[in-house]
Amino acid sequence: MKLAIACDHGAFELKEALKEACQQWGHEVEDFGSYDTSAVDYPDTVYPACVSVRDGKNDLGIVMCGSGIGASIVANKTRGIRCALVNNSIELAKITRLHNDANVLAMGGRFNTIEEGLAIAKAFLDTPFSGEERHLCRIQKISTIEIEEDR
Ligand code: RB5
Repeated sequence: MKLAIACDHGAFELKEALKEACQQWGHEVEDFGSYDTSAVDYPDTVYPACVSVRDGKNDLGIVMCGSGIGASIVANKTRGIRCALVNNSIELAKITRLHNDANVLAMGGRFNTIEEGLAIAKAFLDTPFSGEERHLCRIQKISTIEIEEDR
């Protein structure tokens, strides 16, 4: 898959480890930064990564900040993005793919070990959307809300 990844200074180490791991797992990674540990505002890196998913240039995104909260808020402001904030739970990473067809995962660099973050990301990437009618219906309703909000 083609993946967009982005972080701020609160998750730089996790993003670097994730980039290497994703490439080892056979994915193509587009890295939207940040590129060092200096302070950066997470909207500046996370939003362009999410736009690339919205526009179909990447299949899925993984965005990170210290808590994952700011990154997830930015992601969910992007049209067509369904972002799940997942810290400390491989199960929730699977469920958000199965039930929500989440196309972006958010994680907190200060709330997961590197090992835990990689395991969460792997579960997210390896789990397909269930395609079940009841979930499709709910996702369609989310799209309808977006259209209503645009009016
Ligand atoms: C940066 O210190 C921190 O506020 C940010 O990474 C994130 O946790 C915000 O949600």
